[in-house]
Amino acid sequence: PKTIKSLSKEVSSSTNHVQHVKGWIKSVRLLKNIAFIDLQDGTCTDALKVCIPIENSKETEYVRRLKTGQSVSITNAQCKMTPEREQSFELKISEPLKSISIIGNVTLDYPLQKKAHSLSFLRTQPTLKHRSSYLSSLMRFRSHLELSLFNFFQEHDFTKVSPPVLTSSDCEGAGELFKVQSSSRDNDSYFGKPTYLTVSTQLHLEIMAMALSRCYTLTPCFRAERSDTNRHLSEFWMLESEISFVDSVLELTRFVEEMLKNSIKSCYEQKNELLPIITPDNSLTREEILKRWESLLHKAWATISYTEAIGILKKQHAMVPFPNYEPKWGESLQTEHEKWLAGEHFESPVFVTDYPRDCKAFYMKANSEELPGNETVACFDLLVPEMGEIVGGSMREDNYDSLSREMARRKMNSSGELTWYLKLRSEGTIPHGGFGLGLERLASYLFGSHNIKDAIPFHRSASGSIE
Ligand code: 4AD
Ligand code: MG
Repeated sequence: PKTIKSLSKEVSSSTNHVQHVKGWIKSVRLLKNIAFIDLQDGTCTDALKVCIPIENSKETEYVRRLKTGQSVSITNAQCKMTPEREQSFELKISEPLKSISIIGNVTLDYPLQKKAHSLSFLRTQPTLKHRSSYLSSLMRFRSHLELSLFNFFQEHDFTKVSPPVLTSSDCEGAGELFKVQSSSRDNDSYFGKPTYLTVSTQLHLEIMAMALSRCYTLTPCFRAERSDTNRHLSEFWMLESEISFVDSVLELTRFVEEMLKNSIKSCYEQKNELLPIITPDNSLTREEILKRWESLLHKAWATISYTEAIGILKKQHAMVPFPNYEPKWGESLQTEHEKWLAGEHFESPVFVTDYPRDCKAFYMKANSEELPGNETVACFDLLVPEMGEIVGGSMREDNYDSLSREMARRKMNSSGELTWYLKLRSEGTIPHGGFGLGLERLASYLFGSHNIKDAIPFHRSASGSIE
C-alpha cells in the first residue's frame, strides 16, 4: 500500500493508476446514492477523501458498518482530480464490498468524533490523541524541527553523540534530581552507588568535545521540579551542544541565532506540509504561525546584558509593577520578567548575557575584573515572547584552579563525584562553550501551541498520569 502522503505527491504527475491505501477512518458520511470516507494515516496533514457510489441495499448495509476509528484497507481505487476543492484529488471506488475491508474494528464507545476535540480532552486519551489533526501535525512538526537542527550541526562539522542518562552528578546543582532505585528488594539503589537520571548531559558532552571538537546530542533530561506550569515537564528533550575553541559568548549567541533561523527557514519552506489545518482555542492560527515565523526570520535578535535587562525592568516596574516579583540585581529573572522583555519590550527573541555568578551553575566561566559582590559569568539565556527562556548556554570555566576554587566555594565535590570533570582541565584544556535548548519549548513556541505538554508525545509532570 501507499501512504497518503506519497499518493498526494504522485497524483499530480499521473492519475489513472489503480490505488491501494490503508489507514484509519476519520469520518464516514452516508447519503442516498453515495458515501464518503475521510481516511487518515498520519503521514500528512490532509485526510484522503474516498467516494463510494452506492447502488443497492447490500452496499448501503456494508457501508453502515464503517465507523470512525476503524482501520481499513482500500483497493482498486481510481484517482480523481478535484482542482476546484481544497484537496486537489480524491479516490473513487466502484464496488465497496470488494474494495473496502476492515482490518481492525472499534468498540461502540470509541471516543473520537469528527468534530475537533479540546486539547484538555485529548490529553486524557493517550492512545488516541495523536490521531487528532492538530496533535499529529504537531508531532510531524517536531520531527521536522529535529531533522533541520541535526542537518545544521552536520553542515558545521559536529558529531552527534549519545551521552548517558544515568549519572552520579547534578550538572545544574539545583538539587532537582530523580534518584534511580532497583526494584529488587535486597538492593535499593543502583548497585549500591548514588545514581540519578541526568538533568543535563553537558558535563559528559564536554569530555566528548575535548576529543571531537564539536558535538551535540538530543537526549531526554529529567527534573524533579514541583512547578507544574505550561512550560515545565519532568521529562523533556534537550538539544545540547559543546563547541571547542570558541572564545566568547557572542560566538555562541551568533551560532544559536543562525541555527534557529536555519530551522525556521526550513519550516517555512515546508509550510504547506507542516502547518496545522485547524487550530484549537488558545493556539495560534495558521496565518498567525506564518506571521510569527516571518517576523523571526526578518529581525536581527537583540542582545543585552543582564545588568541592562535589570535596568529596563526596573524602569518598567516603577511605572507598571510586575504582579509577583520586583526585578532586583543579583536575583534570577522570573518568567514574568522574561516574557515581558521579549514580548512587550523587544517584541522579538532577545539574548540576555552575563548573569550574576550566584544565579547560575558552577561550571560557567567568570568574567574577570569585577568587584566582589558584582561578579558575573560569561553566559546567555535566549528569551522569546510568551514562553520566556528556551536556550541557556555559557562559556565553561576551563582553568583548573578557578574551577576548583568555585567548586570549593559552593561546597561541591565533597565525595569526589566530580573529580573527573575537574581533571579535564589538566588534560589539554581549551576555551570552550555550549548551550542547551528545550525542544518542547522551541516546538511549542514555533507552532504557537500554548502548552509544552502537547509538544511531547507523552507528557510527564507532577500532576500528570503515567501510562
Ligand atoms: O537552562 P538549563 O537548565 O541549562 C542546562 O541544563 C545547561 N547545562 C545546558 C547546557 O549548557 N548544555 O536548561 C536548558 C534548557 C532551558 O532553556 C529550557 O528550554 C529547557 O532546557 N528546560 C526545560 N524544558 C522543559 N521542562 C523543564 N522542566 C525544563 N528545564 C529546562
Ligand atoms: Mg536556564
